[in-house]
Amino acid sequence: MSVTALIGAQWGDEGKGHIADRLAAESAIVARYNGGDNAGHSITIGSQVIRTHLIPAGAFHPTVTNVLAPGMVINLKSLAREVDELNHLGANLTPDRLKIDGAANLLLPGHIALDGANEVERGSHAIGTTKRGIGPAYTDKAARVAVRAALLGDPDAFERAVREHVAHSNQLLTLYDQPALDADAIVKEYAPLAARFAPFVGDTTALVHATLERGEHILAEGAQGTLLDIDHGTYPFVTSSSTITGGVLTSLGVGPKHVKRVIGVAKAFCSRVGAGPFPTELSDDMGARLRGTGANPWDEYGSTTGRPRRTGWLDLVALKYSARVNGLTEIVLTKLDILTGIHPLRVCIAYSYRDEPISNFPSDLAVLEQCTPIFSELPGWEQDISGARRIEDLPLAARVYILQIETFTGVRVSHVSVGPERSQIFEV
Ligand code: IMO
Ligand code: MG
Repeated sequence: MSVTALIGAQWGDEGKGHIADRLAAESAIVARYNGGDNAGHSITIGSQVIRTHLIPAGAFHPTVTNVLAPGMVINLKSLAREVDELNHLGANLTPDRLKIDGAANLLLPGHIALDGANEVERGSHAIGTTKRGIGPAYTDKAARVAVRAALLGDPDAFERAVREHVAHSNQLLTLYDQPALDADAIVKEYAPLAARFAPFVGDTTALVHATLERGEHILAEGAQGTLLDIDHGTYPFVTSSSTITGGVLTSLGVGPKHVKRVIGVAKAFCSRVGAGPFPTELSDDMGARLRGTGANPWDEYGSTTGRPRRTGWLDLVALKYSARVNGLTEIVLTKLDILTGIHPLRVCIAYSYRDEPISNFPSDLAVLEQCTPIFSELPGWEQDISGARRIEDLPLAARVYILQIETFTGVRVSHVSVGPERSQIFEV
């Protein structure tokens, strides 16, 4: 009877979807705790790659209840599209199988328009957001003017709230010299969406506690990654939600005693999409090699926006920081197969800041921006590892690479993935 937190340990896109899909099999509930449709999670079923943005990884596990927890911001248009798509593939997301917490906030058209306007205003300092309206939606939550999902079942109150949202957004859009939104058109579009999703709304906190009391298991599925966390990430180049373990507690409404496993998903190298510091970034052919050509869905191109991701060597300083702020109990290492054939491999073991070594990931952006990585070289391997199903199947150099991660972070690597298919994740 416990909660397992599944967290992105880097800058997002660590392969959380694949791991969540696997862990969903042993859970009664899979709850997404943060973010909105800025996330892009991939699940491979057979030869098919399925992308999800809002719906948790329990979608294709018939006995799992999927929860959109209070910490999320939910775009109903995206949700409708995604539910239709997944149902078409057999997910059967009925109100019994998909629950939206009444306290979750709705992400509405004004937020999307303002996300775009904010980015234009920032000019060369733009964050490179996904332009899904995430920042403005959380701004409204903190300003206490957000429209909560609880209103979906009350058509009159919902219409009033949407009109207030549009009026409020239009005031801000005018300041930015942006065109105003049409309240009537938005009300007309959203009324049927509200009616459609009203039966899905409920008290998921009560559901979570009832599930724990029955002795069943809950998976809290994160979006984005630790270094994009609003408090502990590379602010201001972050998303607007709590991506870390603390976010699980506030969103699901559970105390820390219930969280028994905290799994950090980390790629065997690093990637980042959008602007902001990235000490181990490679802008050369090696970076391009890690990225891939985009020909296969496993390559490093944004699954929400299609943008090519920035890539670089594994940053152990950042990963150790992630282990600390999340209290990781284990690491799942993904995409180890991508390193095959690269020799030597490099991992960052310290930063140099004004010619002084530092071993802690700096929370101050001004410091981080001046840090250069200090690398340690490790031997590579040549043989194809995509067929490995046990740690013993990996070449010595790959096992040394894993050992280096464990030694540096003090956290054990519990699973390794060597390809995108369900069968290509094995327990260590
Ligand atoms: P998953 O769940 C990687 C990045 C954006 C931008 C910053 C802020 O697939 O790992 P936002 O739209 O959230 O205001 O953008 O955060 N970002 C992600 N990067 N993976 C994601 O999600 C991301 N979601 C947002 O690129 O730099
Ligand atoms: Mg992604």
